[in-house]
Amino acid sequence: MVRGEKQEARSEIKKISILGATGSIGQQTLSVIRQHPDKFKITALAAQKNVEALAVAAREFRPRFVAVDDITLYPELKKALADVDVEIAGGRAAVMEAAHREADICVAAIVGIAGLEPTLAAIERGRTVALANKEALVCAGPLMLQAAQKSGAKILPVDSEHNAIFQVMENHNRAAVRKIILTASGGPFRAWDKNKIQNATREDALRHPNWSMGEKITIDSATLMNKGLEFIEAHYLFAMPPEQIEILVHPQSIIHSMVEYADGSVLAQLGPPDMRVPIAYCLGYPQRIATAAKPLNFAEIKSLSFEEPDVDKFPALNLTRAALAAGGAAPTIMNTANEIAVAAFLAGKITFGRITEIIDAALQRVENAPIKNLAELFAADAAARRASEEMI
Ligand SMILES: NC(=O)c1ccc[n+]([C@@H]2O[C@H](COP(=O)([O-])OP(=O)(O)OC[C@H]3O[C@@H](n4cnc5c(N)ncnc54)[C@H](OP(=O)(O)O)[C@@H]3O)[C@@H](O)[C@H]2O)c1
Repeated sequence: MVRGEKQEARSEIKKISILGATGSIGQQTLSVIRQHPDKFKITALAAQKNVEALAVAAREFRPRFVAVDDITLYPELKKALADVDVEIAGGRAAVMEAAHREADICVAAIVGIAGLEPTLAAIERGRTVALANKEALVCAGPLMLQAAQKSGAKILPVDSEHNAIFQVMENHNRAAVRKIILTASGGPFRAWDKNKIQNATREDALRHPNWSMGEKITIDSATLMNKGLEFIEAHYLFAMPPEQIEILVHPQSIIHSMVEYADGSVLAQLGPPDMRVPIAYCLGYPQRIATAAKPLNFAEIKSLSFEEPDVDKFPALNLTRAALAAGGAAPTIMNTANEIAVAAFLAGKITFGRITEIIDAALQRVENAPIKNLAELFAADAAARRASEEMI
């Protein structure tokens, strides 16, 4: 290779930072990067408390900076990486620092509203953000979009449904989009009757039929709150009015979403239910890169089926529509109440049926107000947290 060629090859390496590196999305991002050492270089990794996984990743990928949110674990991380040439820091400021570090793409994969500030920080820096942390957008959609417009940051959707829409959305035909069809697996309780769902156990709810994911999103998939959050996510990401977003249950999770155009054409993205596919799409964008995901075998799949979601069995869908329509702090109140209720369900403190009851009650009890900045948003978050904890 002549000198010029080598330099060109080197400049094609994308620098990646991962917020939430130890989680399901974080680890699958590492798996895609592991497959393409010639294309990516990790600059920063951050997580909350899983020191072991952070240290393993740091040892393998040699980032410049590693952050652990729980500051009491800083000495442990420092010890685990004593022989590795890497800068280590602990506490919330360290996670923010990871978001600020140099990167061509920042993968925002922290779960919950905890990811909002670091994700927003990456957007404010003008990074391309591969967004998995849907809760951040649900709570702060307008603030994040304004920040992206100001800094020129691109937001690439990691969520498989939004990634699918992103792939088939013809930007030159935006005016001809009739609707977005957001597909949903229906979760583990699709075929259960309403009464049985109320008392579903932790094990039942964590048994997702198609996807292997973190615990919080798996419970959200069982209540269908995940689809509600995605409905709001789609509204913001694609500037689509709520009445042009349809939710359709598709139990096989092969079609990841569709866009219907005015001429009657429907464009869909299909793929195996494997998050490495949308993650690779974001990392490689605008190029497509290989993944180890098992290719689809249509003869084996045989048929794809569809049905309307049952909003009586799954009230979360109407709650999210109402929260988006109410605007202001309502999506944050809903999201926070959900985070508190899901944690309480996972800890065995409340029944499955109480999750959506608590969200509903929080939306009624906590005063809605316009959100102009993060301080107002976190005040609504704190009020929703107090109200939800009281109910538990
Ligand atoms: N998993 C999926 O297939 C999937 C698909 C679509 C969208 N998403 C979205 O992606 C996000 C991540 O989901 P996941 O399933 O990967 O969750 P997960 O497996 O529970 O992982 C969460 C990650 O966030 C980190 N984290 C939590 N709180 C933090 C904090 N305060 N500061 C820094 N790091 C923190 C965790 O660190 P520790 O491990 O140290 O606690 C972990 O790395 C969620 O918003 C989810 O809705 C996930």
